[in-house]
Amino acid sequence: MARYNKRAAIPMLGIMSTSSPTHWLPTNTFAGKRAFVTGGGTGLGLEISRGLAALGAHVTIASRSKEHHLGFLTEASKEGWDAGAVVLDVREDPSVREAIDTFCEQHGGIDILINNAAGNFVCPAERLSSNAWRSVLGIVLDGTFSCSKYAGRHMIAGDGGVHLNVVATYAWTGMPGVVHSASAKAGVLAMTRTLAAEWARHGIRVNAIAPGPFQSEGAAGNLWPDETIEERMREAIPAKRFGTTEEMATHALYLCSDAAAYITGECMVIDGGLSLASGRMWEPGETLKRKRDKD
Ligand code: COA
Repeated sequence: MARYNKRAAIPMLGIMSTSSPTHWLPTNTFAGKRAFVTGGGTGLGLEISRGLAALGAHVTIASRSKEHHLGFLTEASKEGWDAGAVVLDVREDPSVREAIDTFCEQHGGIDILINNAAGNFVCPAERLSSNAWRSVLGIVLDGTFSCSKYAGRHMIAGDGGVHLNVVATYAWTGMPGVVHSASAKAGVLAMTRTLAAEWARHGIRVNAIAPGPFQSEGAAGNLWPDETIEERMREAIPAKRFGTTEEMATHALYLCSDAAAYITGECMVIDGGLSLASGRMWEPGETLKRKRDKD
């Protein structure tokens, strides 16, 4: 049976929201803003880039592979969005500096930084090579800091701005198989709160989103490689469904918008209740049923 709150036009927990993230904010929300999105050519980064551009921002996406630029740039030219792209490995601090300095020279500054670039795969901790650990920490933790620092310098010299970091709930719950990613995301969460407190006086807001499992190419291949694992994960989510990329992007856009002007250092969890359920000892309804059985 369809469950949809028509009056408020808000999809309820168990029903998938397929509406575009741009549906929820006014069309000129990001008019005149200049945004730099790492990992902006695929998955969640692409969805956030599309949303920012459709709502009026100039958007430059940064990713290691030129091939990953193509989809966004093609769509941008069709839609008339103001868009650019740069080849960048966020692990290379001098390249990050050069990319952000060049962006600011070309556009007169930077207003929005989306730290979305990530690397992840499931591997037992005792088998993780030091190179594998370094790769993920380098992308997620070091890369986020380099981008934050260089964008932050321009924002401090300019009119402030917004940073949005993508973390994961296992930054605080932990999760077997992803010690590299969990450790890196925990660092990014601490960075989010620290920079929020440190840079609020410069008019810079720093927030994070923590998506639960959602359907995207990278996640599906790396985190739930077969259907049995996928089904087990779905079962564990109280909402009994995965999120959508659009749902994740919606909240990222909200946190970057002036609607969230008084929010900083926050991490918005978007996971259908998964992180609340991780320590549960019985299934919902079970305790009530047992009590009724006794009565
Ligand atoms: N399981 C175990 N180890 C893995 C691995 C996996 N699935 N994937 C990579 N590694 C290890 C490599 O073996 C290597 O270690 P080694 O030199 O000791 O063998 C190390 O990680 C670096 O891998 P490599 O592919 O050489 O480096 P890279 O820097 O080009 O890429 C990633 C590393 C993580 C970015 C890469 O796996 C990747 O591109 N992943 C897809 C993107 C992604 O993860 N997006 C996020 C989705 S949630």
